[in-house]
Amino acid sequence: MKTIKEILNYVEKHKLYPDLKIVDGKIKPKIKVEKKDVLMFSSNNYLGLSTRSEVINSAINAIKKYGVGASGSRMLSGNLKIHRDFEKKIAKFKKGEDAIVWPSGYAANVGIITAIMNPLKVRPSDFLKRKNIILSDELNHASIIDGCRMSKQKTVIYKHCDVDDLEKKLKKYKNRRKMVVTDSVFSMDGDIAPLNKIVPLCKKYNAILMIDEAHATGVLGETGRGACEYFNLKVGEDVDIVMGTCSKALGATGGFAVGKKFLIDYLRISSRSYIFSTAMTPAASASLIATIEVIEKEPEIIKKMWRNAEYLRSAFQELGFNTFASETQIIPVFIGPDDKAIKIAEELFKEGIFAPCVRWPAVEKNKARIRFTVTADHTKEEIDFLLGKMEKLGKKFNIIK
Ligand SMILES: Cc1ncc(COP(=O)(O)O)c(C=O)c1O
Repeated sequence: MKTIKEILNYVEKHKLYPDLKIVDGKIKPKIKVEKKDVLMFSSNNYLGLSTRSEVINSAINAIKKYGVGASGSRMLSGNLKIHRDFEKKIAKFKKGEDAIVWPSGYAANVGIITAIMNPLKVRPSDFLKRKNIILSDELNHASIIDGCRMSKQKTVIYKHCDVDDLEKKLKKYKNRRKMVVTDSVFSMDGDIAPLNKIVPLCKKYNAILMIDEAHATGVLGETGRGACEYFNLKVGEDVDIVMGTCSKALGATGGFAVGKKFLIDYLRISSRSYIFSTAMTPAASASLIATIEVIEKEPEIIKKMWRNAEYLRSAFQELGFNTFASETQIIPVFIGPDDKAIKIAEELFKEGIFAPCVRWPAVEKNKARIRFTVTADHTKEEIDFLLGKMEKLGKKFNIIK
């Protein structure tokens, strides 16, 4: 316990303990945080669907029918019809053969990577099989990193979106059983993995390819189906495992994998975070079915979100801010020192904007940023309000001239 107290003292001394502000109400552009009216510019509710009435009603109806919890693991008593209905819906939406869902995206990533890269051993000879290796982008999400660690297999990190570095590593380990894993939209930088180049490399070197579509589902492609639609790739053929979360544009909670039916059948009997955890709530499954129906009926909300993202990003850049390599609705603004980013986020809040900073340990020390996100629901006036405040603070803190 002494060690833990020492860590807490360090965090307190350096003012690193996160200022966890209480949000009280629906996650919309105009919200109340700590009883103050502010504009939300950091939520993952990219299409505004977590608060749509048809989505809420679908969840309420499921609660009335099933109760609030699944009351068991999918493997035992918690395998509800509504779960299977959502799996069929998301498989069809993503254009894959079948799907499996977990209670969270984190559980999905650790459950998939461990099951695929540390496969069940069914015969004595399995213990002598080829060694595995995972090749993982350096900016992949923590849940991918934890999945790699929990698989207990060698993991090699390749430089962010660097296909030459990836090929060098694929060549070096050509005799191993390999998996390449990457976010398709990166959660902190908002850029897109070059899957048009990664797919041919995986085919050339016979590597399994897994993508994490947490921030791409409902976002990339004409109809929001994700990176495979955006790059014109086939789910299950060009990309073996399409993982995604239900907690961003889809507005609820949960994680999924879509792919060939045999792969999904295998994950159901091998993924420990699927087997040994209570199933997703019935309300989440029902709301997700409704969300996908809204996206299918109203693809214009995706276009609205993209227009807002392009407007905000180019205006930030014109003001002189560094927005990393952002190409999407995730628009980080580089600040640098952690303490400066903390101060700017605090001042932004006082000025009526809610956008906490992202800093160590989430990103490298002194590479702190304010990670803005923009949604389909934001108006031009709200975005202009943010730009005005950022211009003022950017000058005050010597980020821009
Ligand atoms: C890229 C990525 N993958 C996985 C996750 C985990 O998803 P969830 O929040 O649904 O557990 C996140 C969420 O922050 C994410 O950004």
